[in-house]
Amino acid sequence: MSFKTKVMIVVLAGLATAGVVSVAAVPSTETFDAAHKYNATCKGCHGAKAEKKFNASLSDDEMVQAILKGKKAEKPPNMPGYETKGITAENAKALVDYMKSLKQ
Ligand code: HEC
Repeated sequence: MSFKTKVMIVVLAGLATAGVVSVAAVPSTETFDAAHKYNATCKGCHGAKAEKKFNASLSDDEMVQAILKGKKAEKPPNMPGYETKGITAENAKALVDYMKSLKQ
């Protein structure tokens, strides 16, 4: 391996490490992916277009509370509370915005 190649490898490894560090330093709210979370966790009950069990005329605050604390349905399954599963109020707001965008 030439000296030049070795230098390149060291530089590239350094860049990769710096990249990982900077990604980890971004606050969780910025890296929260509402679309991904919705598809993985919420779509089963609320549908691909948020067409099920989602009353879009509720206030944002009522929706955020429903996500954080859960909500009893007229008949089960109930809406689970996600605060204990690591969803913050900001994450919940992002999910509400995402669900509204699906509805349009
Ligand atoms: C087990 C099924 C289930 C899952 C999973 C679920 N929900 Fe719900 N969700 C419900 C039910 C039931 C309601 C209450 C609907 C009602 O009041 O008729 C509800 C209500 C809501 C509301 C308030 C709007 C309304 O009409 O009451 C929001 C916002 C919401 N869910 C978002 C989410 C998000 C975001 C996720 C994923 C993190 C999620 N839900 C996962 C079943 C579920």
